[in-house]
Amino acid sequence: MYYEYRDNNLFWQNTDLVEMVAHIEKELERDYSYTGPFYLYHKDILMHRMSFFQSTGPAASSGIPEFFYSVKSQSNVHILKIIAENSHFGMDIVSGGELFRAKVAGISPERIVFAGVGKTFPEIRDALEYGIKSFHVESLEELEAISRIARSAGKKAGVALRINPDVSANTHAYISTGKEENKFGIPVYEFSSALEILRSSSSLELVGLQAHIGSQIQDVIPYKKTMEILISKAAQIPEDIKKPFEYLSIGGGFGIDYEHPLVNDPDAKEFPVRSLLGYLEGVQKEFPYRIILEPGRYISAYSGLLLTHATYNKQKKDYRITITDSGMSELIRPALYQAFHPILPLVRNGRTQIPHDIVGPICETGDFFLKKYPVYPIQPGDRLAITHSGAYSASMSSNYNSRPMVPEYLLENNSFRIIRKPQTLEEMIKSETSLL
Ligand SMILES: Cc1ncc(COP(=O)(O)O)c(C=O)c1O
Repeated sequence: MYYEYRDNNLFWQNTDLVEMVAHIEKELERDYSYTGPFYLYHKDILMHRMSFFQSTGPAASSGIPEFFYSVKSQSNVHILKIIAENSHFGMDIVSGGELFRAKVAGISPERIVFAGVGKTFPEIRDALEYGIKSFHVESLEELEAISRIARSAGKKAGVALRINPDVSANTHAYISTGKEENKFGIPVYEFSSALEILRSSSSLELVGLQAHIGSQIQDVIPYKKTMEILISKAAQIPEDIKKPFEYLSIGGGFGIDYEHPLVNDPDAKEFPVRSLLGYLEGVQKEFPYRIILEPGRYISAYSGLLLTHATYNKQKKDYRITITDSGMSELIRPALYQAFHPILPLVRNGRTQIPHDIVGPICETGDFFLKKYPVYPIQPGDRLAITHSGAYSASMSSNYNSRPMVPEYLLENNSFRIIRKPQTLEEMIKSETSLL
């Protein structure tokens, strides 16, 4: 999508990666004695993904952003600062840790909504204290807990009921969130009980209804079905509860194309955002609600890559295994849900692609990136870009196999800067050694 080879060198949104990576590696070795993998983010691509929404979406009018960035997809505070600077965007958080990051990034509280099926009491207290826009409430018990905590803090909590619409998003079972059997949301048959709790609580304000149906959605139809359910539920809310009611929030991350990384690939397909926004503008004309969206990784995924190095090759009978210096500790998605990430060598050797298993060094058979996939021939020492790593890569990384967290870099204005230092071995075990 954003990559192309020019004279066999890989370019990423007009950035010569061979040259840029050489500069970054020099800095890492000089300043940190570090020679391993790193994440690289492209600000131009992030801005491009956001600007698409600004130019297409209905104009902001009431001060609530229309689009909520999924903090869990990429949560480095330097990236969050870029998001916070864009007034069309709010942040969709799912933990107290993400609230902390959002605060550090400087986003104002009324631009934060808090989802998540198991918000703890301290998390609720901290979010109330900060004065977030609303809690996307996932159960009757959570609604009661928020009411109690708000009452004892002498505050009013803005809440939006997250309805489980029992709609299939036609996606991988692990990333479906809106089916009845999924753990998320309040079932429609409990909606009236939720309204009763709202009626009897003076510390809750119903500001909206929400539904989130999953990730990697390619089709507008599940959104339409979900929106119809939200509209019909909103119509059932009695006027005395409905006073500050402002929005319908429709989540379900827009599908991105993990298969076709190269520019102008005729087979590349994108989620039909214009078609969805067109439908939603129609809804907005007919009903008096603001509509807000949670596009998920659609904003962040393309703007990151994981730069790794080939360490060794093993020749099997009819394919090659290439072992790299990064693994499931840096990018767990292939191991977790068989996700596919294209891998492009920074320098293309020859024109014929041959089948490779590209695997990590971690002591797990599931630690692989690609299986029997055609890739340009790779030699030990080659640099490889694991594409589409702007979402659920660094934010899902771990110290498994006692591998320190790897650095992150941001490309902006044709230059680069480090936005997370490589973790040292001492830092990795400090919370243990400090107790020795
Ligand atoms: C509440 C909420 N927000 C955002 C997202 C992120 O969407 P995506 O997976 O498309 O990045 C999810 C995904 O499950 C979610 O449940």
